[in-house]
Amino acid sequence: MTRVQTVQTQPAAVSVCGVSLAYGTGVQRRTILAQMSFEVAAGEFLCLVGPSGCGKTTLLRVLAGLARPDAGQVLVDGVAISGPSRDRAIVFQDYSRALLPWRTVAGNVALGLEGAHGGDAARAIEARVAELLQTMSLAHVARHYPRQLSGGMQQRVQIARCLAQAPRLLLMDEPFGALDALTRQSLQDEVARLARAEGKTVVFITHDLEEAIYLGDRVIALAANPGRIEAEVAVEIPRPRHQLETREDARFLALRHQLFGLLAGH
Ligand SMILES: Nc1ncnc2c1ncn2[C@@H]1O[C@H](COP(=O)(O)OP(=O)(O)O)[C@@H](O)[C@H]1O
Ligand SMILES: [Mg+2]
Repeated sequence: MTRVQTVQTQPAAVSVCGVSLAYGTGVQRRTILAQMSFEVAAGEFLCLVGPSGCGKTTLLRVLAGLARPDAGQVLVDGVAISGPSRDRAIVFQDYSRALLPWRTVAGNVALGLEGAHGGDAARAIEARVAELLQTMSLAHVARHYPRQLSGGMQQRVQIARCLAQAPRLLLMDEPFGALDALTRQSLQDEVARLARAEGKTVVFITHDLEEAIYLGDRVIALAANPGRIEAEVAVEIPRPRHQLETREDARFLALRHQLFGLLAGH
């Protein structure tokens, strides 16, 4: 296992301590996550990359509090989590299933705010929704329904809804995997910019190594069967990054080389 020590100037926002999880019973029992431990600093953009089926979604569900590990625990700001929280929002790959088809774009974004305010806060919700729609370049489609939008626009709506929740931690599960290359690139840049502007701590999961390096302050590479940490590298490429220049940067290429070999099992 290769590990690069990162200098963390901020305290850990999230500590994953010895998390193990198995599915099935008897001979069918399979370890999906094996003794995983890592930390995420406050404001850090951490990317987790690994092959399909290595347990990425399972790990994200554990971080969200949707799945309970068999051993180990997840601490958020030093406190063990016991279930889901508004403080931790998940953006799923499948935007079409994440949005309510009978609600408009504005109505879907408002979902992230409902329950957080009292009944008389309608005007505050409206103002916040308008602001988020502006931020995500969705203002012109506020009254449209999800089916009337492209995949990229639908994914923007899901991201806006998660931001509406004002989470401290943004958990993203291959959010751009279903989008075409150009849309993916523009959303990558937007999420990188937003995360920084709003000081979010992000755990971003992908099977795309280049995406992980492009977005991350640090990349953790996972191996499969059972899911475990294979390598960890710091991405010391300044921000803002650029789709062309950054991907041609010698540091980017060196990391790509290093991680590609590991993920391919060399
Ligand atoms: N609820 C479940 N019951 C049994 N096996 C599951 C369940 N969820 C996921 N798995 C299995 O766990 C493994 C990891 O799945 P997943 O976390 O979705 O991987 P990834 O997101 O990296 O593709 C897969 O082999 C999958 O079939
Ligand atoms: Mg998955």
